[in-house]
Amino acid sequence: MKSAIFLSSFVASAVFFSRSLAVTLTDASQLTTTTYDYIIVGAGNAGLVLANRLTEDASTTVLVLEAGVTDENVIPVIAPFLGPSVTPDTPWDWNYTTTAQPGLDNRTYPYPRGRLLGGSSSANYMIHQYGTNEDWDRMADVSGDAGWSWNNMKQYIARHEKFVVPTNGQNVSDEFIPSLHSFTGELQVSLPVWNQTIDSRVIATTQQLAEFPYNEDISGINNDMLGIGWAQSSMVDGERASSSTSYLASANDRPNLTVLINAMVTKLLPINTPAGARTFRNVQFSDARTFSVTPSFQVQATKEVILSAGAVGTPQILQLSGIGAPADLEPLKIPVLINNTQVGKNLQDHPLLPNIFSVQGDLSLDHILRDPAQIGAAIAQWQANKTGFISNNVVNNIGFARLNASVLDQFTDPAAGPTTPHFEIIFADFWLDPVVPIPSNGSYFTILTALVTPTSRGSVAIQSTNPFDAPLINPNMLDTEFDITTMVESIKAIKRFAVAPAWDDYITGTVGTLSGTSDADLEEHARQHTTTVFHPSSTASMAAEDSNDGVVNPDLTVKGTTGLRVVDLSVFPFIPSCHPQGPVYMLAERAADLIKATH
Ligand SMILES: Cc1cc2nc3c(=O)[nH]c(=O)nc-3n(C[C@H](O)[C@H](O)[C@H](O)COP(=O)(O)OP(=O)(O)OC[C@H]3O[C@@H](n4cnc5c(N)ncnc54)[C@H](O)[C@@H]3O)c2cc1C
Ligand SMILES: *[C@@H]1O[C@H](CO)[C@@H](O)[C@H](O)[C@H]1NC(C)=O
Ligand SMILES: *[C@@H]1O[C@H](CO)[C@@H](O)[C@H](O)[C@H]1NC(C)=O
Ligand SMILES: *[C@@H]1O[C@H](CO)[C@@H](O)[C@H](O)[C@H]1NC(C)=O
Ligand SMILES: *[C@@H]1O[C@H](CO)[C@@H](O)[C@H](O)[C@H]1NC(C)=O
Ligand SMILES: *[C@@H]1O[C@H](CO)[C@@H](O)[C@H](O)[C@H]1NC(C)=O
Ligand SMILES: *[C@@H]1O[C@H](CO)[C@@H](O)[C@H](O)[C@H]1NC(C)=O
Ligand SMILES: *[C@@H]1O[C@H](CO)[C@@H](O)[C@H](O)[C@H]1NC(C)=O
Ligand SMILES: *[C@@H]1O[C@H](CO)[C@@H](O)[C@H](O)[C@H]1NC(C)=O
Ligand SMILES: *[C@@H]1O[C@H](CO)[C@@H](O)[C@H](O)[C@H]1NC(C)=O
Repeated sequence: MKSAIFLSSFVASAVFFSRSLAVTLTDASQLTTTTYDYIIVGAGNAGLVLANRLTEDASTTVLVLEAGVTDENVIPVIAPFLGPSVTPDTPWDWNYTTTAQPGLDNRTYPYPRGRLLGGSSSANYMIHQYGTNEDWDRMADVSGDAGWSWNNMKQYIARHEKFVVPTNGQNVSDEFIPSLHSFTGELQVSLPVWNQTIDSRVIATTQQLAEFPYNEDISGINNDMLGIGWAQSSMVDGERASSSTSYLASANDRPNLTVLINAMVTKLLPINTPAGARTFRNVQFSDARTFSVTPSFQVQATKEVILSAGAVGTPQILQLSGIGAPADLEPLKIPVLINNTQVGKNLQDHPLLPNIFSVQGDLSLDHILRDPAQIGAAIAQWQANKTGFISNNVVNNIGFARLNASVLDQFTDPAAGPTTPHFEIIFADFWLDPVVPIPSNGSYFTILTALVTPTSRGSVAIQSTNPFDAPLINPNMLDTEFDITTMVESIKAIKRFAVAPAWDDYITGTVGTLSGTSDADLEEHARQHTTTVFHPSSTASMAAEDSNDGVVNPDLTVKGTTGLRVVDLSVFPFIPSCHPQGPVYMLAERAADLIKATH
């Protein structure tokens, strides 16, 4: 499995120049105090936004505890095209595997999560978007807090995004709309800097088929995601941009920000008075390098503990601390301190399906990706001057679409609204299948499809009291009629795409089960090949203050507790209909405002 994608042989040679971002502690013995205003658990995508914003006030002290390692000098993390080699099953991954998935012929598959500074923002594929206004307005409706509506949330894009126009002389005037972006925020976002040989055909198809219109800005603040356009990625000048290279790098020299890596949080401890039994301001951790809970260390927050451990780590820590469903905790003899049956439930993810075509000639990237000498030369070029395909993301074009009315009429529409897409289309100039390795010959074109409004619901549950045991992760993929129907419709859609004139002299056929023609055949193709876009969410879901549902209140405080909040992708009641790192950044920006306003 590890070698299924590509490039994993380069993981070992990961020593590189120094960007020297980090003034980072590596061992608990280096802490000079055990008391901080705020303790943030997880130096990930959301956690490092909070670390930056909360220490803007120089008198506020913040400790960030991160189980993982540094991102400094790690070539696969820094070089955009090598992103897919950061996971699975590496020193930068939690190495999780799902439970057997009944909707996927009982298959299991790796479930990558970044385990390093920047969290999954240092391990992801860098596609950057914000979702539709309808996604955010639904969150405002469900939570009863108009502060989550698009109208309020869009202000955070100005603080967050730092759009960078590529400076290599290419003409990008048709690839994005400047007025829909911010050029003054923290995280660099940019456009492709290297053309795949399929790009012009993809764009030509948008002119040939009305079903697939061209979208001049697939990630802008007008929320128009439908159609096909140029991917925007969190990268700049041939390097990845993550929460670590942006929010942490610009705050790291503040004396009152302390970041400790190799620190595995094992439990939150209640303050031991009758009145304080619901107050969780004490954090227990141990050295992640030892994979042992002893010796353990304790730190205290005077204001708040904030869990930003992600959609797997956050429910795991809550459950280990006695905050969860009695049915999950009692069998493990964990005292139920807060009975919340929703912790770890409501897991949502975007299923991803590779659909592969065989193509003419040798212009696809396959022949390069099979040849260590050519990859080595490309990496050397990237090291020399940050050019070539290694300086670019693995995909250049993506698109989004809705089901057509004849299909949608059979269901209650799960999309947040009528302009929110149901599925995504991703174009790759090579064999891109996380399950089946690239064959030893042939040239390929992969059109991946992803379901972005899933109705299946899964769960995360600890299976022992040992924090170093991985939790059971059950995304429960393709469990509903809507989900499998939408996957089948997405395959039909990309087959219509692939017969546009633009592909006449290029595509020669389908690969494997994609050849199926009946709905039943295509359903089997989907069940055999679907895995994940790596977007687990909603396991500590937000609900209205007076609702018995949900794990957190609209202000992200954990229901029934004081001193404890969750700020990460796990709080979204519905998974955003887009690549979620942008929504995570926006959430964390507002969360910082909410926290500052409380104290
Ligand atoms: C391979 C991959 C590709 C992806 N591609 C994209 C993409 O192209 N575009 C996009 O928008 N999104 C993508 N995503 C998803 C996106 O990166 C995540 O949804 C997002 O970054 C999650 O942010 P978060 O803050 O919720 O969690 P994370 O960023 O995962 O942060 C959680 C942090 O907490 C730490 N942690 C967990 N448990 C503990 C503990 N017990 N003690 C201490 N620390 C702990 C983790 O090590 C991690 O650093 C991808 C994800 C992956 C894994
Ligand atoms: C994940 O696997 C890699 C490679 O085998 C290993 O180096 C790393 O320590 C593992 N990480 C965890 C958290 O188990
Ligand atoms: C999946 O496993 C379950 C339980 O073992 C079994 O009942 C079912 O038939 C299996 N499904 C497939 C498609 O193999
Ligand atoms: C860039 O392309 C646009 C539209 O395709 C064109 O109008 C413009 O003149 C071009 N700019 C340059 C500098 O070539
Ligand atoms: C890629 O091709 C498009 C036309 O299809 C062109 O507008 C763009 O400038 C090219 N980009 C690069 C990086 O060469
Ligand atoms: C906060 O910063 C001051 C100096 O500005 C320093 O004396 C103090 O030790 C810092 N506290 C912490 C907890 O880092
Ligand atoms: C936990 O809460 C649920 C519903 O909120 C309730 O049905 C159940 O009885 C409670 N269990 C315990 C052990 O308190
Ligand atoms: C970068 O280096 C490669 C060879 O290593 C060279 O061919 C290319 O012209 C260089 N590009 C720039 C912009 O310097
Ligand atoms: C709508 O979906 C049906 C069923 O898959 C398909 O036959 C038809 O071509 C689709 N029409 C459009 C315009 O997408
Ligand atoms: C790959 O090689 C095998 C065995 O030589 C051959 O049967 C097959 O047709 C080749 N496939 C392609 C796509 O060239």
